Amino acid sequence: MNILITGGAGYIGSCTTFKIIQKYNAKCIIIDKQETSNLEKLKLNYPKNIEFYKIDMCNYTDFNELFEHLNTKSLRIDSVIHFAAYTIVSESEKEIHKYLHNNITSTLNLLDLMNKYEINNLIFSSSASVYGQAKYIPIDENHPLNPQSSYALSKKISEDIISKYSQKGLNFINLRYFNPAGTIGHLGEEHNPETHLIPLLIKSLIEGKIFKIFGNDFPTPDGTCIRDFIHIEDLVESHLLCMEKLLNEEIENETFNIGINKGYSVLEVVNKSMEIFNKKIHHKFRYTIDNRREGDVPILVAQAEKIKNKLGFQPKYKLEDILLSVWNYEIQKISL
Ligand SMILES: NC(=O)c1ccc[n+]([C@@H]2O[C@H](COP(=O)([O-])OP(=O)(O)OC[C@H]3O[C@@H](n4cnc5c(N)ncnc54)[C@H](O)[C@@H]3O)[C@@H](O)[C@H]2O)c1
Repeated sequence: MNILITGGAGYIGSCTTFKIIQKYNAKCIIIDKQETSNLEKLKLNYPKNIEFYKIDMCNYTDFNELFEHLNTKSLRIDSVIHFAAYTIVSESEKEIHKYLHNNITSTLNLLDLMNKYEINNLIFSSSASVYGQAKYIPIDENHPLNPQSSYALSKKISEDIISKYSQKGLNFINLRYFNPAGTIGHLGEEHNPETHLIPLLIKSLIEGKIFKIFGNDFPTPDGTCIRDFIHIEDLVESHLLCMEKLLNEEIENETFNIGINKGYSVLEVVNKSMEIFNKKIHHKFRYTIDNRREGDVPILVAQAEKIKNKLGFQPKYKLEDILLSVWNYEIQKISL
């Protein structure tokens, strides 16, 4: 089996690649415009399974050459998983062109080339941010889409373009992730800069730095944002399940929320971490309240029954598991 993974050097792409190799011993053709420590680990551990191509997907000529190259090698792609994107919501409000150009052009080029080379199965990393400010909670897939940031808009437009290509034979599944977090063994979040709550919080706990909460005046019970955190193990599992269903032609053209149907406020995550890790740290943990970040909406909690009912997908892990995995990952980095 040959799977093309865009953005496979990144956090979720590398974790998914790892699980695909473990479960199916598949060949993973990774496209990314950067190399990362996660990619290095994959290449080191699975040299026969990984083919890495350092390509900017917005460059159509380079991207086309890659498909041509795969074609001449008679390497038939069974499915594509499209993770590649710029992902920082607040940055996307400052750099509108950068985000819309990168995330939309890369998707459009990919779809055009998939069509040209008759590759028909696609799983797309979408985001709960497409819903914008929730009109009701939990949010199901029929909730109106009202993207509040350029990042979210790029995801909505990408979904629309994907839907358009389905008229040309593309078979897709859009996965709207809520808040993925946690690690899979030696692979974790290595965003630069890191903007996600859990890795930042755990690093602050370990390093004794003051932790910043962005906004405590949201319309939520404690004033901090509420999010639905899904363990990366569960998130990746949903991709494997969707890929199997696509390859077996048991499903077509679906959009699923991926979350655990439960929200935690930022303050609750901070308190839960203190409860678990307080005894392990030798300094006093402190946090401050900073301004809200641009593009952050108050509450995002999934109604994730659709994928459960249609595919039997049931997340297994809890917030505590996520926190522990990130703690172990960060501690291990220090001791290396
Ligand atoms: N991590 C989250 O909390 C979260 C939540 C919702 C949705 N998502 C989506 O999941 C996907 C993966 O997220 P992640 O956290 O692993 O991000 P990441 O930044 O770790 O990985 C994304 C990768 O895409 C690559 N990339 C970006 N533009 C590219 C281009 N033009 N050509 C080639 N490579 C390019 C980057 O180099 C990076 O390695 C993204 O599409 C993101 O929008 C993530």
